[in-house]
Amino acid sequence: MVATGVAKSRRRPSQKSKPGNRPGESVCILITRARVKQRVRQLAREIRRDFPNEPMHLVGVLKGSVLFLADLARELGGEVSFDFISVSSYGKGMDSTGEVKMNKDLDVSIEGRSVLVVEDILDTGLTLKYLLRLFEERKPKHLRVAVLLDKVERRIADVKADYIGFVIPNEFVVGYGLDYDERYRNLPDVCVVRLGPRGKTKIEA
Ligand code: IMP
Ligand code: MG
Repeated sequence: MVATGVAKSRRRPSQKSKPGNRPGESVCILITRARVKQRVRQLAREIRRDFPNEPMHLVGVLKGSVLFLADLARELGGEVSFDFISVSSYGKGMDSTGEVKMNKDLDVSIEGRSVLVVEDILDTGLTLKYLLRLFEERKPKHLRVAVLLDKVERRIADVKADYIGFVIPNEFVVGYGLDYDERYRNLPDVCVVRLGPRGKTKIEA
């Protein structure tokens, strides 16, 4: 059997950069993959500075945090374990239902562990508020939060993340794990998605 060599792969670059948007949806880059990569590395350094020799138990909030968690975990080094929880606060589309519902709980106990909750985006903060209340009751040794994106303007609940990748404007974003109706999670850059005619507004690159 011949192993598939990365160097020999002839994947067309255009395939990877196609956003896969449907008619009526326009997508433009807000934060490039290079900036995301660099920032994730910095966040990992900050976290390791605060917890130098501590086994870190990463709790990813499904599904949006998966790519962020995967990259952060590789940058962290040291002893790291993962678990995942699934909650939903958003219905289909861009509007929150305002309610948080648990779909899947953690697999293992967090009692006595140094827990880092890993979230894709902090929006109203209702999801994080719900999660922190739930996890605090379970008596972890430390409980910290890392979010890739923070839409500060939209906050309703009084919560803060300990490690924040980027503060972003009030726009609906997709890519790097974030979705719009389960699509766009595979985009390597963080992008703004807008409904309506193909927009030319490039926000930031
Ligand atoms: P919150 O409870 O309002 O803070 O919302 C948290 C969740 O809503 C996030 O974990 C995301 O799954 C989703 N969400 C909020 N804003 C966006 C967005 O701009 N794009 C995609 N998902 C979002
Ligand atoms: Mg999420």
